[in-house]
Amino acid sequence: MRTTVGIIGAGPAGLLLARLLHRAGIDSVVLESRDRAYVEHRQRAGILEQGTVDVLRAAGAGQRMDREGLRHDGIELRFGRRRHRVDFPGLTGGRSVTVYAQTEVCKDLIALQSEEGGPLLFEAEALAVEGAEGDRPRIPFRHQGREDVLECDYVVGCDGFWGVARKAFPAAVSRVFERSYPYAWLGILADVAPSHDELVYARHDRGFALLSMRSPSVSRLYLQVPSGTKAEEWSDDEIWAELERRFETDDDWTLERGPITQKSVTPMRSFVHEPMRHGRLFLAGDAAHIVPPTGAKGLNLAVGDVTTFVRALVHQRETGSPGLLDAYSATCLRRVWQAERFSYDMTTLLHRAPDATDFDARLQLARLERIASSRAAETDLAEAYTGFPLD
Ligand code: APR
Ligand code: PHB
Repeated sequence: MRTTVGIIGAGPAGLLLARLLHRAGIDSVVLESRDRAYVEHRQRAGILEQGTVDVLRAAGAGQRMDREGLRHDGIELRFGRRRHRVDFPGLTGGRSVTVYAQTEVCKDLIALQSEEGGPLLFEAEALAVEGAEGDRPRIPFRHQGREDVLECDYVVGCDGFWGVARKAFPAAVSRVFERSYPYAWLGILADVAPSHDELVYARHDRGFALLSMRSPSVSRLYLQVPSGTKAEEWSDDEIWAELERRFETDDDWTLERGPITQKSVTPMRSFVHEPMRHGRLFLAGDAAHIVPPTGAKGLNLAVGDVTTFVRALVHQRETGSPGLLDAYSATCLRRVWQAERFSYDMTTLLHRAPDATDFDARLQLARLERIASSRAAETDLAEAYTGFPLD
């Protein structure tokens, strides 16, 4: 097989990349090791920055998002039984976010790729990336029991944290920056209307809790749990009782319960691989960086990476200059590190580490008090949460 851009992975990064290349008249092939059902139903985050919404609309992939997505103009921070709302448009000159699950973004992009795009091969596992230093990189892969090779001009590794693309970087050029957190998130889906119309991030002495949603009738909630927790260790009643404790307020707010339809535990880590390019091999999305989900940045960073790559490839085709491709890694990493900083800040602000002291707890409350009482501090959070400009 032969194509201009070989894409490994059909998560949000790979699927959006294929869509943007198609719209630019550049052919690609997507290799995805799992089956379509797995990709379309893998529960992940659900917050789209304004920039992501704009990119999906411009790519002709925003129709259902515009119908079913929920525009949110703020979030609530909850601490010390108090409730503080952060007003996004008022602090950022009009920016907001949209609640629309990653699973739905993937379904929309898969449908478009199947109708209009190039080959999207499911259950096609890339085995390696070869020849990245030359001008004819290759991806040997296994599909339907047969081994084949995809010849490319460029390869973009959109294969997530556990993929193969990053392994093709020589150790001499790779630098990894990482931090693991001593806690995880126990996430549930529940068939019950969300108990608040915006997201609620709660800092409590017992640990963090988050109220999010998937639709007016489906809630998505998270509890901080110790690293290594298994979802089945928590009964439904225990989950609801702990959420109620952590969301406690001085007013008459109550948390509505409902049938839990899905339970899973997500570990927390920060990770960046530098550089994000080696010869004709580029990394995008989780293949290059991971953020703790507290800042809801994962999907939005993937969008920034693939948008940057397509702009750079189109620029080279139109002008003959490789300048933007040469700048790809530095351009993406500026935005990645701002998202890493924000995600780290939000995570350490709201979670209680196992070895946290009373001093640490007071420091968290002081940081929250600062955000609640200073427009400058609140603006920093609102600007980061609603997203850094793609340029
Ligand atoms: N060959 C083919 N496909 C592969 C291989 C391989 N060797 N290794 C991994 N993949 C596929 C995975 O099955 C997965 O579908 O690559 C895809 C990577 O998708 P994601 O992990 O979703 O990564 P990305 O597209 O960068 O999206 C980042 O997804 O994980 C969330 O929180 C993350 O919201 C963020 C978003
Ligand atoms: C989600 O809805 O899954 C979600 C929302 C906000 C976050 C993380 C996850 O910070």
